[in-house]
This record gives sequence, C-alpha cells and structure tokens, in this order.
Amino acid sequence: MAILVLGGAGYIGSHTVYELIQAGRDVVVADNLLTGFRAAVHPKARFYQADIRDRAAMDKLFQTEHIDGVIHFAASSQVGESMADPLKYYDNNLCGTTTLLRSMVAHGVDKIVFSSTAATYGEPERVPILETDRTQPTNCYGETKLAMERMMCWTSRAHGLRYVALRYFNACGAHPSGAIGEAHDPETHLIPLILQVPNGKREKISIFGDDYPTPDGTCIRDYIHVTDLAQAHILALDYLLAGGENNVFNLGNGVGFSVKEVIDVARSVTGHPIPAEVCPRRAGDPAQLVASSDKAKSVLGWKPQFADLNTIVATAWAWHKSHPNGYDR
Ligand code: UFG
Repeated sequence: MAILVLGGAGYIGSHTVYELIQAGRDVVVADNLLTGFRAAVHPKARFYQADIRDRAAMDKLFQTEHIDGVIHFAASSQVGESMADPLKYYDNNLCGTTTLLRSMVAHGVDKIVFSSTAATYGEPERVPILETDRTQPTNCYGETKLAMERMMCWTSRAHGLRYVALRYFNACGAHPSGAIGEAHDPETHLIPLILQVPNGKREKISIFGDDYPTPDGTCIRDYIHVTDLAQAHILALDYLLAGGENNVFNLGNGVGFSVKEVIDVARSVTGHPIPAEVCPRRAGDPAQLVASSDKAKSVLGWKPQFADLNTIVATAWAWHKSHPNGYDR
C-alpha cells in the first residue's frame, strides 16, 4: 500500500516526500508542475503529472495505485495573489479539493492529511493561538483553506472519510542535506528574500512597517522548519491509520521573532551586512502570529528538531547559496 502525496513537487510537499522515503514508505507523487518542480521529487517516488481538478486523472491514479492515505498539498498559497485573483483560489483550492474528495470517496480511500494555515485565524484574539480560537480569515487564501477544512468535515459526516488539518505558521528552512529547498516564483517570503541580498540578487531587504505594537515595531512570526512540518504530516497520517478521529493541529515553535530579529540572524549566519530599509506596511499583515502547538505535541507526539532560528536560517542559506536560481525547469 502506498501514500499519495498531492503537490509533492512543491516546497513542503517535496520535503514530506523525502521524510516518507527515509521512513521506508512507498510513495506516489502527483503534481501539475505549475508551481512545483520535477527536480524536487525524490527519485524513489512514483511520479504522475496530474491536476487535482482533473477527475479522470484522479480516478486513474486511484485505480492504478493501491493508496492507503493521501497527503494533500496541492493548492495555491500566496496571500497577495489571492486578494488580486480570488477566483483562482476558489478554483484551485476548493474546486480542486471537491474533485479530489469525490474521487477518494468513489474509490474508498478514506484518510487525508492536508495543509491548512495560520491564515485561517486572521487577526488573532491572543497569542499563542490555540486551535479553538476564533477563525476569521482576513484574506481569500485563508478563507479557502478554512472552507477546505469545513468541506472535509461534512464529507466525513456523509461518507466516513477521516481527516487531519495542519495549520502551519511560517514554513522556512531547507532539507539538511541541501538536496531540496524553497523556490517560489515570484518569491514573497521573508527569509528567502533576505538571503537574496548575500546571494547578490537584491541590494537590500524591505521591512514592511516598523510601527506595529511589538517591542521593535516590526511584525512577529513563528518560524517553523520545513522538515519539522514534514514529520508532523507523517505523524498525522499514522494517527489516522491507527484509527484517530478528525482533528486540527497548529504547527509552530511557539516562539515569535520580529522581522528585524530575523534579519539580524541572517546577518550573523551569512556574515553579510544585509542592508535593510523600512517601507510602508504590507496590507493584511497581522502584528503577531505565534502558535500554541501543545496539542500536536501531546496528541501526535510531535517534537520539532530545528527549533533554533540560527539553524533554520543556516539550512536555508546552504540551499540558496548552492541553488541561487532555484531548480532547473
Ligand atoms: N516581510 C517584510 N519584508 C519582505 C517580506 C516580508 O518585512 O520583503 C514581513 C511581512 O510583512 C511579515 C513577515 O515578514 O510580517 C513574514 O512575511 P512572509 O511573507 O514571509 O510570511 P507571512 O507571515 O505573510 O505568511 C505566512 C505564510 C502564508 C500564510 C501566513 C499566515 O507564508 O502562507 O503566514 O498568516 F498564509
């Protein structure tokens, strides 16, 4: 029996595939390669170029492979783009997941772990954020992810499928081997943008606002290493395989770092001065997002291994230094 990883050529998906293979699992990857990279897929995984919105392709996958459980990363994930082109997000994230679930139900595949996000909370009522806190997304990306959670819930009631939603905070870092890492086009995330400066691809980093109600005025985020996220997916899948009920877990380190602190860590890791310039706030950024991940630790037995931000940035830097232009297409 195999594990199907949808979106397994993307950033978090490809790292999860590496951990699954390392754990000796049989892995099938499907990805439409619109934002993912074939070179990011572990050579031991069986690869299908397929889109989750394509019902025939999904049916064929479930007919060809004996799938025990699904890990679903195949979604659009840029907050800014979701505000400019919301229908793209409804189409890819919600229509895509509808088609996928229909095919799973038709083929009796009843376990799914999927990427949700801290963006389901919107502006938090308090930090650290608990899974039971208010969910009021402030962007279309978060709205579609929350709707995916609800879609799983109703599908579960009607068809007995079981799911785990993993609400990630700020995914970052790269595989410790340096084989795979983060590559987005366009890049919008803080750590890879900072590292473009020592890589000679950008003159300075912009700090989006220094007038937030935080100690140094810049936004605070909870940065979590991608390998730790990958491990959480395997634990969540094993939890479902062992009969676990539907559940939602936050995944973060429970420690917040400001934008200025992250830039300082990158200066120390790279030995480069990394000039920074304060710019206006970016629309829709909450001042602080920090997770309580106690539930994932107690229920799933999750133990993040890369909690130190220096180590996280060092793994990212090793990847970006050796792949300044990302993957070859
Ligand atoms: N930032 C800068 N300068 C930049 C880029 C980012 O100051 O050039 C700041 C942002 O304003 C934010 C912080 O750095 O305060 C982190 O920004 P990212 O874009 O790296 O990450 P976000 O916190 O905006 O987004 C992350 C995930 C999203 C998810 C969101 C949940 O990438 O997928 O958390 O709110 F939706």
